Amino acid sequence: MEDVVVLIVGAGPAGLATAACLNQFSIPYVIVERENCSASLWRNRTYDRLKLHLAREFCELPHMPYSVDTPTYIPKKTFIKYLDDYIECFNIRPRYFTVVESSTYDIGGKCWSIMARDMAKCATVNYRAKFLVVASGENSVENIPVIPGLENFPGEAIHSSGYKSGINYSGRNVLVIGSGNSGMEIAYDLASHGANTSIVIRSPIHVMTKELIRLGMTLIHYLPPKMVDHIVLMMANFIFGDLSRHGITRPNKGPFVLKMGSGRSAVIDVGTVGLIKEGKIKVHGRITKIKGETIEFQGGKEDSFDDIVFATGYKSTANMWLKSGEDMLNSEGLPTKEFPNHWKGENGLYCAGLARRGLAGITIDAKNIANDINCNIDSMSG
Ligand SMILES: Cc1cc2nc3c(=O)[nH]c(=O)nc-3n(C[C@H](O)[C@H](O)[C@H](O)COP(=O)(O)OP(=O)(O)OC[C@H]3O[C@@H](n4cnc5c(N)ncnc54)[C@H](O)[C@@H]3O)c2cc1C
Ligand SMILES: NC(=O)c1ccc[n+]([C@@H]2O[C@H](COP(=O)([O-])OP(=O)(O)OC[C@H]3O[C@@H](n4cnc5c(N)ncnc54)[C@H](OP(=O)(O)O)[C@@H]3O)[C@@H](O)[C@H]2O)c1
Repeated sequence: MEDVVVLIVGAGPAGLATAACLNQFSIPYVIVERENCSASLWRNRTYDRLKLHLAREFCELPHMPYSVDTPTYIPKKTFIKYLDDYIECFNIRPRYFTVVESSTYDIGGKCWSIMARDMAKCATVNYRAKFLVVASGENSVENIPVIPGLENFPGEAIHSSGYKSGINYSGRNVLVIGSGNSGMEIAYDLASHGANTSIVIRSPIHVMTKELIRLGMTLIHYLPPKMVDHIVLMMANFIFGDLSRHGITRPNKGPFVLKMGSGRSAVIDVGTVGLIKEGKIKVHGRITKIKGETIEFQGGKEDSFDDIVFATGYKSTANMWLKSGEDMLNSEGLPTKEFPNHWKGENGLYCAGLARRGLAGITIDAKNIANDINCNIDSMSG
């Protein structure tokens, strides 16, 4: 049993940012990470052409600005280098290959009792912590929907987290399922590499440009969200036109009202819409079943495919190991309270990076958590 003041679960951007903020107050902490590296999502589970869609001013972690020559829209490799520098700058030393398996609040001992597995040594490690920070991510595990017949699909079926590049798909018939930012960008990548590409778009989406999102994120500090939506939608409609005949409709709520309410992100177009308009990417509605290599869509239309890429998103897994944290997280491992009150639970429990606010939200969470621990450390340690 190891006694620690703060235990941080996860060494992605949220865990690292929290560690850096605690470091500013000289508050001791231990950070554990199930993989063999920090920011494993960025290093191992993202595609090659990925760049941050949000401008760099919205992607900075606390206490370390980007260097002046960093591009506005940061390529994945540059972002990973920034995280490596961040780790060095704040001397963050995650304990890798350590997966938290359960965590309960010990009322008598007034501390969190955490059981983890050291996968390198195949041993159990127990921690007792006054404060517990859940930073295990919204994207902890891949979401692959149940589709009748999928088990007999003869081709390759992968999740977007395993997709790197379209280079090996040239000439193949590939179906991308899901039209979030991953699905729309992967469809573009596939088509650019000569794959016969189709995409399933089952719900209305807001397609925007990265410049419009940057404008909106700046205006939101000065104008009501509805007014920002009105401005960016007017411009987006001018740029993209009516896409309904291509199978793309807009949600009733505007992109910023939607993001602030449900956390759903707008899709930032990287050229996919142009290829859809040119007929180089085909759009389908929801899938009804899979029969061998033939996939049937709503309305009875059928097509055959060599490969499927599931760009169907991710799930949090914190609900699977965090016990006695029901006041903070729901059964999906996401905050019960709405932003900006989501980050704090009872008894020294916190979460960072779970409010669907990306890197900007992580920065806010990490600062709030460190400030709160700093204010409460004396009373909690007594
Ligand atoms: C393809 C893609 C592109 C994205 N691009 C952007 C972008 O441009 N801008 C933006 O703001 N956001 C973007 N996001 C959202 C992105 O998830 C966050 O910005 C950021 O990575 C979240 O950081 P995090 O630390 O909360 O989660 P993660 O990066 O997922 O880190 C969580 C860490 O916790 C570890 N972990 C999980 N469970 C356990 C456990 N039980 N025990 C120990 N360790 C555990 C995981 O291994 C992981 O390393 C993108 C997401 C994806 C999938
Ligand atoms: N460059 C970048 O900055 C970048 C790039 C990629 C991703 N991201 C971010 O990373 C996070 C994850 O993005 P993501 O695109 O991987 O996931 P996501 O945003 O959760 O999108 C998942 C998509 O899959 C669809 N889907 C889910 N189940 C389905 C089913 N059974 N059939 C058909 N469609 C289904 C969803 O449709 P419904 O809406 O109908 O459920 C949605 O369109 C987001 O925050 C995103 O903004 C950023």
